[in-house]
Amino acid sequence: MTQPDRADRLYNPSVHDASLTPVALADALGRSVVGQRRAVEEMSIALAKKLAGLPAGNVLLIGSSGTGKTTLMRTVETFLSERPELARRSTQIRVHANVLAEEAESGRPGAGVIRRLLERGREQLGLDAPVERIIERARDGIVFVDEIDKIRSVVGGEPHLTGIRAQEALLTLMENASVPVTLPDWAGGGRMAFDAADLWFVGAGAFEGLYDAVHDRVTLGSDRGALQPTTVVEDGTVHQEVRFQLSDWLRSEDLFQYGMSPQFLSRFDSVILLHDLTVDDLVHIFLESPDSGFRQSQAYFEHHGRELALSPAAVRRIAEEAASRPRLGARALKEVFRRVVRDHEFDPTAAGGDTAIVIDLPEVEAALAAPDESP
Ligand SMILES: Nc1ncnc2c1ncn2[C@@H]1O[C@H](COP(=O)(O)OP(=O)(O)O)[C@@H](O)[C@H]1O
Ligand SMILES: [Mg+2]
Repeated sequence: MTQPDRADRLYNPSVHDASLTPVALADALGRSVVGQRRAVEEMSIALAKKLAGLPAGNVLLIGSSGTGKTTLMRTVETFLSERPELARRSTQIRVHANVLAEEAESGRPGAGVIRRLLERGREQLGLDAPVERIIERARDGIVFVDEIDKIRSVVGGEPHLTGIRAQEALLTLMENASVPVTLPDWAGGGRMAFDAADLWFVGAGAFEGLYDAVHDRVTLGSDRGALQPTTVVEDGTVHQEVRFQLSDWLRSEDLFQYGMSPQFLSRFDSVILLHDLTVDDLVHIFLESPDSGFRQSQAYFEHHGRELALSPAAVRRIAEEAASRPRLGARALKEVFRRVVRDHEFDPTAAGGDTAIVIDLPEVEAALAAPDESP
């Protein structure tokens, strides 16, 4: 008889599942999340740990609107829910931080998150599953808290009570191993101590204004002069340029000032900044993303028996226009594309009803030059 492989005895076998290494996970997530390499990699490392049953460390994602924060969370959800073999580790919920604030107001901090986890576990295991199994699963759950910047403890220099309570509510779950909850009726009602020690939290928010606040600190405020020009070589010329990157300068104090309490922030093991998307990223999203305005429009014309095509120059121009809109990220693509395609969509079977519609650069330029009459 052969000895079992030493590695088998030493390690949790799930760690060695080749599809669950950080590299493989990043590859899978990166198919839906364009750019944001570092965020995808960090998320993959944490997820790999979580799936191996090890402490994963809570993650906080910070990035301007439309850079892919919710997309990254949704991609993880889809990845897990499409793999039945991971089901034991994939009781996940996504909540809007404002909901936590409302619940905190009503004096049941954390109860809503646990209730949702239990409901999700029940959905996965079936209505007849034993309550103990559902609870066990919920305890191992993944909690995505979106728009986490909405629960600031200060707004405009004034204390923001709902935010403070919501942060406290989340803290209860993040640091108290045992949270008293009332079980739902289907679980027999009654109170129990819910062990929250193994929950994994991923928070995300745009933290609007954080960029400017840090930029001000570094250029005008206490760290004035810290930002030095660097030598840049571009298109064969060399020049000096001052380049500000939030990731180079962000400190915990900036987030405290923004209204994330030190206790709350200290429960996140990694803070990951998503960068603003480049024109190339936007081109990619425009052409490939299943919920891009272009793909949706193509489906619409297909429905009318017509094909919609854009020249590469037209696509690039749309992406450039979107990139120039501040703080909208990939969301600007839809808005820009609407202006271009509106007239075609209004009369999809206009002249030459059985031929393809091909939009080229001049048409895009004309559409963007025309006054935008949308409200
Ligand atoms: N990095 C990205 N990769 C793929 N799609 C993206 C990315 N960023 C934004 N999008 C697209 O833009 C829209 C808004 O993205 P979302 O992830 O909701 O932004 P936010 O960062 O504000 O949560 C979505 O429809 C999504 O398809
Ligand atoms: Mg979002």
